[in-house]
Amino acid sequence: MSLPKTHEQLEREKQIVAQAALGWVRTGMTVGLGTGTTARYFIGFLGEQVHRGTLQVTAVASSRDSEEAARQAGLTLTEPRRGLRLDVTIDGADEIAPDLSLIKGGGGALLREKVLAQAARYFLVIGDSSKRVQRLGAFPLPVEVIPFAAPWVLDRLQSLGAPDPAVRMERPGEPYLTDQRNYIIDCHFGVIENPAALGARLKEIPGVVEHGLFLPGAIPDRAEAALVCTGVDIMVLRPGVPAAGLSYLQD
Ligand code: A5P
Repeated sequence: MSLPKTHEQLEREKQIVAQAALGWVRTGMTVGLGTGTTARYFIGFLGEQVHRGTLQVTAVASSRDSEEAARQAGLTLTEPRRGLRLDVTIDGADEIAPDLSLIKGGGGALLREKVLAQAARYFLVIGDSSKRVQRLGAFPLPVEVIPFAAPWVLDRLQSLGAPDPAVRMERPGEPYLTDQRNYIIDCHFGVIENPAALGARLKEIPGVVEHGLFLPGAIPDRAEAALVCTGVDIMVLRPGVPAAGLSYLQD
C-alpha cells in the first residue's frame, strides 16, 4: 500500500494539472474560471500567458475569490449575459468518479460553479491524485440552502440518510455565507449508490438552492474530461474511454 501524499506533493500535483489545462485554451476563447486552490493555480498560469502575449482570452469567474485572483492575474473579466456560451470551463473538484460524476463545493462556490459548467461547451476538471475515487461519498456533500429554510432542510437531509448534516461555520456561532449569502450544509451520506436519485431528491426540498453533485443528465454538469495528476504523470479521463497518459513539460 502506498503512503498518503504530503500536502506539498498534492500542491505540486495541482500545479502540474493546472499548467496542463492551458492546453485546452486558445486565443479568443471565453473561459469559465472555477474556484479553489487548483483553479487558483490555473488562473495564475493563464494570467502569465496573457501577460506574455501568448494567449488572449476573456474570463467569467465562479466566485468573488476567483474574480479577485483573475484581476490580480491581469485577466479580462466579463459578466454573464444572454446568449453567452463559454468555450471552456476549467475547475477543480473534491471527488472525481470514473464516469466523471463529481462532488464539488468544498470551497463553497458550487452554485456558480455549476452555472459555469452548464454554460460551457466543454467542462474540464483538474485535480490532484487524492480526488480520484471509485464511488462518490467519502467527501461530505455540500448543499446550498437559503438561511430561512435551513432548520427544515436539516431535518429532510437527515431523513434522506445523512446522519449528521451540519451548517458549515465560518467561526463558532457564525455560519459560513456563500457569495449569494446562503448557508452550506455538509452531509455525510457515505457511499452514494445512486447519485442521480439523490440529486433529484435534494432538488425537491424547498429551500435547497443547489447541491454539489455534478452529474450526467439532460443538461449535464459532469465534466467532458478530467486531468488527474498521479505524481509522475497526468491521466486524461473521459467517460467510457480508457484513461490515457498525457506527458507534460515543466518550465
Ligand atoms: C469550490 O467550491 C470547490 O468546488 C472546489 O472546486 C473544490 O473544492 C476543489 O478545491 P481544491 O482545488 O482546493 O481542492
